[in-house]
Amino acid sequence: MERRKLKLGGIIDGVGWNHTGWRHPDIPADASENVDYYVQKAIQLEQGKFDLIFLADVSHIGPGMIPHYLSMFEGVSILSALSMVTHSIGLAATIATSYADPFTVARQIASLDKISKGRAGWNAITSNPGGLANYSRSHLSKADLYPMKKEFLEIVEGLWDSYEDDAFIRDKGSGIFFDPSKMHPINYSGNYFSVEGPLNVSRSRQGRPVVFQAGTSLDFMNVAAKHAEVIMAPGDFDYLKGFVFELKKRVQNQGRSPNDLLIMPSHSPIVGETEKEALEKLREMESWMPKGYRMPKPTLMGSAENVAEKIEHWYRAGVMDILLIRQDYPAGFEDFIQLVVPILQDKGIFRKEYEDNTLRGNLELPYPENRYKK
Ligand SMILES: Cc1cc2nc3c(=O)[nH]c(=O)nc-3n(C[C@H](O)[C@H](O)[C@H](O)COP(=O)(O)O)c2cc1C
Repeated sequence: MERRKLKLGGIIDGVGWNHTGWRHPDIPADASENVDYYVQKAIQLEQGKFDLIFLADVSHIGPGMIPHYLSMFEGVSILSALSMVTHSIGLAATIATSYADPFTVARQIASLDKISKGRAGWNAITSNPGGLANYSRSHLSKADLYPMKKEFLEIVEGLWDSYEDDAFIRDKGSGIFFDPSKMHPINYSGNYFSVEGPLNVSRSRQGRPVVFQAGTSLDFMNVAAKHAEVIMAPGDFDYLKGFVFELKKRVQNQGRSPNDLLIMPSHSPIVGETEKEALEKLREMESWMPKGYRMPKPTLMGSAENVAEKIEHWYRAGVMDILLIRQDYPAGFEDFIQLVVPILQDKGIFRKEYEDNTLRGNLELPYPENRYKK
């Protein structure tokens, strides 16, 4: 089978995924709660033909957290706004299965999928146990997180099939609005959640939202092998080789094609026209840090050619179907789009135009048939 092209994602995390980047003169100090900033970044990523905007999340504030987490947008809310100023780029929000309620999440993400005309994704994570205290779940513990996640995913996927694709007739002449035989309550009763259904949102242009997941443990892999379509992963090449092997083995054991699970490592590239220019950007970032501190050199750092070479290597090795980038340097997206994207296009591994207007379509993921379809 022909290898799909490389996909690109951008994480917008306001003032940055670090402690001191907010001090840079080019970053609005309130970027994490500045809608104009998010709009500007979303449009920039779409101009770069990125597949998706991805938002990480936090559900509990603890000591020493990065400034971005202290006051930030809730994911689905901001992505709804971004859907109105973009047309083709995907929109994926992180919501933890340990805290939220499956009916609400199914409804929110399905609504985002409708509002964006088929561009929504949901990153289903367990998150760390800290958040239990914010969501009236202090009686639960770490051991509950994966059994809960399994139930949560079964429910959400079931709710997204509440209506078959042709359930709504909406014929004014005959007065028939919908076909009740094509509406399916889920009637789920688990140890953590009980949901009758059906969901009051019908299927979208891409069938249902794309399911992302992030984690590393064996428990994680076992749930992901059944339910995930994209895995957000740490960006270490050697680690990824083993991880992807183990994961894909489990995907196959579930009777799924390993090709239908995309691997998405995340990186914070720092690129320049030359090696020297990239190094200067790194030093600039360090100048905001307390005296004596050094920023670890990112894996994807250097001249644009050099960075594009590395990306191609990862892609061809099968450990990077989607490259997810965050920007540590304030012009990180801009630099990547202007300097690296054209090289990836010349290599023939990245698109020049969007193939589709749905997230699933651009990621070349199969259309999920409704489970009740006869
Ligand atoms: C690549 C990656 C991204 C993650 N992103 C988030 C996030 O945005 N918010 C969050 O609360 N936890 C995030 N997590 C933490 C996981 O939800 C989970 O708590 C952690 O991986 C420990 O579980 P595990 O041992 O099963 O992997 C992330 C983990 C990984 C590996």
